[in-house]
Amino acid sequence: MSSEPENRSKSGNLVEVNHLKQYFPVKTGLFSRVWLKAVDDVSFAIKPGETLGLVGESGCGKTTVGRTLLHLYKPTGGEVLFDGVRVDEKNIQEYRKKMQMVFQDPYSSLNPRMTVEDIVGEPLDVHHLYKNKKERRERILELMSLVGLNAEHATRYAHEFSGGQRQRIGIARALAVRPQFIVCDEPVSALDVSIQAQVINMFEDLQQKLGVAYLFIAHDLLVVHHISNRIAVMYLGKIVEIGDADEINNNPIHPYTLSLLSAIPIPDPKTARASKRIVLEGDVPSPMQLTGGCAFHTRCPYATERCKKECPELTDRGDGHMVACFEK
Ligand SMILES: Nc1ncnc2c1ncn2[C@@H]1O[C@H](COP(=O)(O)OP(=O)(O)O)[C@@H](O)[C@H]1O
Ligand SMILES: [Mg+2]
Repeated sequence: MSSEPENRSKSGNLVEVNHLKQYFPVKTGLFSRVWLKAVDDVSFAIKPGETLGLVGESGCGKTTVGRTLLHLYKPTGGEVLFDGVRVDEKNIQEYRKKMQMVFQDPYSSLNPRMTVEDIVGEPLDVHHLYKNKKERRERILELMSLVGLNAEHATRYAHEFSGGQRQRIGIARALAVRPQFIVCDEPVSALDVSIQAQVINMFEDLQQKLGVAYLFIAHDLLVVHHISNRIAVMYLGKIVEIGDADEINNNPIHPYTLSLLSAIPIPDPKTARASKRIVLEGDVPSPMQLTGGCAFHTRCPYATERCKKECPELTDRGDGHMVACFEK
């Protein structure tokens, strides 16, 4: 049963996101409201078995991209294609088996009063995958072993486990329906640093074994660089830079990407000094205060009058390294 879908062969993409928008209504008074543009015209594509890293500070819209992609929120605009087929309200149930999500906080995303067996088995039941109890249990044990849990863990409750183990349970649950694509929403951010590497290695091993593709969300560019084939950098609802992971890491162009890497000194041609750090000051502004110019202009050391008024588009700087900046 390995007929490559016809539509994919044209683009080679498993998942394609085109001009995705997610605007949330925010009440500003009794009768007035404004739109909070959490995701504003985001496009990217992911090939089978590939990892696209998505980075940006908290509040930039990363989770909203993941949830809107999976139609957990109805998109305000744009489209999501899976194997070349547009995902919509009518066919989403079918695609729930192909696209799964692993959540940021393993403490709140798993019901503490359910056993591991119940948690991992639930998606099997929802999708009516196993009629036979024995086969169902074998599948659950297989999934647990895939993520490094023992058979005797099956009857224990989620609250009995550590953060790292809970995240393993969450991953086993996501894998239960044999998805081809998983949105991993900061799956290691809530874990101790000592555990993070183990869990990241597990994501990599699983990808090797199962060929699953990831959208891997994190706020730490170094974590994302480690696991990703390509990286997208997001700032206030928009992708400001995207390209090959090594290229983004070694040759970042957008001042925001530079600032995310600012622990490492960078050469700055505009000053006589050999190197300069871009240290971000202040917090991410509210997406409701956007003026129509480049969203980063309020914190950017290179911003000009033009940046306040016009929003730069992503342009190709070579080999698909795309950057949205007038000055760099
Ligand atoms: N359901 C919602 N309703 C209204 N605003 C939301 C909702 N979810 C997220 N937001 C807002 O959208 C923006 C992006 O949030 P989020 O996607 O969670 O960012 P990130 O995951 O990068 O931290 C934030 O300003 C957040 O407050
Ligand atoms: Mg988030």
